[in-house]
Amino acid sequence: MELLENKFESVFGKEYDYAFFAPGRINLIGEHIDYSGGNVFPCAITNGTYALVRIRDDHKFRFVSLNVSDTEILEIDASDLAYDENHGWVNYAKGIIATIAQKGLSIDTGFEVLYYGDIPNGAGLSSSASLGIVTAEFIRKINQLPLSDLDLVVVTKDSENQYIGVNTGIMDQFTVMFGQKDTALRLNTETLDYERVPVQLEGHKIVIMNTNKQRALADSKYNERLEECARALSIIQNHYDVSELCQLNREQLEAIVDAFRDDMVAYRRARHAISENDRVHRAVRKLRHGELLAFGKLLNASHKSLKDDYEVTGKELDSIVEAAWDEASCIGARVTGAGFGGCAIAIVTTDAIPTFIKNVGNKYKEVIGYEANFYVAEIGDGSHEIKR
Ligand code: GLA
Repeated sequence: MELLENKFESVFGKEYDYAFFAPGRINLIGEHIDYSGGNVFPCAITNGTYALVRIRDDHKFRFVSLNVSDTEILEIDASDLAYDENHGWVNYAKGIIATIAQKGLSIDTGFEVLYYGDIPNGAGLSSSASLGIVTAEFIRKINQLPLSDLDLVVVTKDSENQYIGVNTGIMDQFTVMFGQKDTALRLNTETLDYERVPVQLEGHKIVIMNTNKQRALADSKYNERLEECARALSIIQNHYDVSELCQLNREQLEAIVDAFRDDMVAYRRARHAISENDRVHRAVRKLRHGELLAFGKLLNASHKSLKDDYEVTGKELDSIVEAAWDEASCIGARVTGAGFGGCAIAIVTTDAIPTFIKNVGNKYKEVIGYEANFYVAEIGDGSHEIKR
C-alpha cells in the first residue's frame, strides 16, 4: 500500500482520498454452468486489484494503471461514456459508470484513480470482474449511491454482458464481492442462495497452474457455448417444463436422448451442465466431511467433462492437468474459469509442492514449448475498502 500511496502522489500530485481492493477468484468446481442455473463452488483469492481514488471538483475522470504505465493518464469527461476501442482496459471502468448511469443515478463526481493488479490478465482468474467490482465500489462511495453490494454485483455483470459484450454468468462478480477468507461459496446461480463452506485441506494446498496460453478467442467461443446451451434447452423444453438446463437430472436427459438426434453437440453440452451440477453437490458434501480424496476425484471428473463434452480445455490445459494427475502428491486437478487457455488448479500435498511444480513444469514445457507459471493460492476476503 505504501508503494501505491507514493505512486499516487507522484502521478497525480496529491494524496488519495479512498482505497479499495477487490480479489480475483478460483473456481473449485461447477464450471460453465452459472448461465444454466447451476451450482458453483468458487472462492476469492488474496491476489486482486487495488484502486486509489481522489475526488476532483470538476466532472473529469482520470485513469492510470500501473500494470500498463505509470505516466499514461487517460482523461475522459463524465458525459463521454460510450465504448471506445482506443480506450482499451479503461472500457471496463467506463462500462461500470455507464451501467450505473443507465439506472438514472447521478455519477458525475470527478475523480482520478490509480489501479494496480497482481492477478495475471485474461488467465481465468477473473481479472475483469475484479477491476469491475473495485470500480463499482469507489463509484458508489464517492457519489454516495444507494446501491447494495448485490446491486454492485449485478451492475458489474450487466456491464460485462452489455457494454463489453461477453455474456458471462454471475459467478465471478458474486465471488469477488462476497468471498471470505478460507471459505468457498456454494452458490445457486438461479436463486442466488448461497452457503459458505470452510476449505480445510489438511496438509494440502491449492496450486494455480497458469498455462500462459492467451485466450484470444475466448470471448467468442464463450458466447458460442451459451448459444449451444440455449439450443439444448429449447429441445428439452419440448419434453419437460423447465427454465434452466440444470433443473434437469441425468435420467431425465437420457430418457430423451433421441430428441437430440440432429444436434448431438447440444446433447453433450447439456450432459456436461447436468453432470457438473451434480458433481458440485457431491463435492461440497465430500469437502464438508473431510473426504479429500473423493473431493479430488470429482475435480478430475469435472475436467474430463469440460474436455470431452463441453470442449473448452485445449492442448495446453489438458497437458498441464494430465501432468498434475501423474504426480502422486496431487489429489485432483482441473481447469478453472472459462478455459480455452488460462489457468488450472491442483490440490497438492504441501510438502511436495516444490517437486510437483518442477515435474509438472518440465513436462509442460517439453510438450508445449514454453513455460507455465505456478502460484500457491491463498483463499482471501471479498472486495473491501482499505482504511488508513
Ligand atoms: C467465466 C465467466 C463466468 C463463468 C466461467 C465458467 O469466468 O465470467 O461467469 O461462466 O467463465 O465457469
